[in-house]
Amino acid sequence: MEMQQTPGFVIWLTGMAGAGKTTLANHLGKRFTAAGRPAEVMDGDAPNELLTRGLGNSKEDRDTSVRRLGAVSKMLVRHGAVVVVASLSPFRDPRDAVRREVRRFVEVFVDAPMETLLARDSEGLYRKALAHELTNVAGIDDPYEPPGHAELVVRTDLEKPDAALARLFQKLVDMKYVTPAEFALLTGGQKPRKGAAKPAKAAAAAKGAKPAAAKKKAPAPAPAPAKGKPAAKAKRS
Ligand SMILES: Nc1ncnc2c1ncn2[C@@H]1O[C@H](COP(=O)(O)OP(=O)(O)O)[C@@H](O)[C@H]1O
Ligand SMILES: [Mg+2]
Repeated sequence: MEMQQTPGFVIWLTGMAGAGKTTLANHLGKRFTAAGRPAEVMDGDAPNELLTRGLGNSKEDRDTSVRRLGAVSKMLVRHGAVVVVASLSPFRDPRDAVRREVRRFVEVFVDAPMETLLARDSEGLYRKALAHELTNVAGIDDPYEPPGHAELVVRTDLEKPDAALARLFQKLVDMKYVTPAEFALLTGGQKPRKGAAKPAKAAAAAKGAKPAAAKKKAPAPAPAPAKGKPAAKAKRS
């Protein structure tokens, strides 16, 4: 006999190193737990994440990482969990494959311009990549393919985590993954907008938000930014 339960879903945070994925994922995990929804955070880029430990930056390893995180997400979602995945996941196809598999999938493009990423470069990842001391760094010598149809785009150089979370929770209400009562718990008492987010409008807004990282490049068509060759490299090398 099966108990009635609220279906789960995945929030998949993708973006270049330093964009703010871990920060948002941790906030999300805490908020959902505090609001009474069972939540799991998986940080694919964290050294202590067992699922991705030992995998490197090659395309093959990155794809394996996304497949594993996707498979576990699917299992957890089946049991009603809110799954928050922070994963650089630079390639569009494997992300889209997880979307098709999981179905209840909310892709968040966590974005910031290269200047911001360089300023935040706490581990010296970009500095080393630009000095050719490190290879396979997404956005420098390897591609980062922004989502073509993200449910939400967050520019972390322009928006504080709290504001981004509020927009995400509204989106989740619009998608009916979160109830208005849960929205209130998630936001400390706020009410969601009613009948806002017409899907077409939201999608257009997401599309209209040009990837910051690709902005300094020759204006490529938004949905298909140059497979990979990021602005940073063109500008810096
Ligand atoms: N919305 C934001 N506004 C300002 N700073 C942020 C924001 N999100 C993240 N940061 C800062 O950027 C740095 C990198 O964030 P992090 O979450 O570790 O990125 P990622 O996991 O994408 O590599 C951290 O110092 C963090 O405090
Ligand atoms: Mg991180």
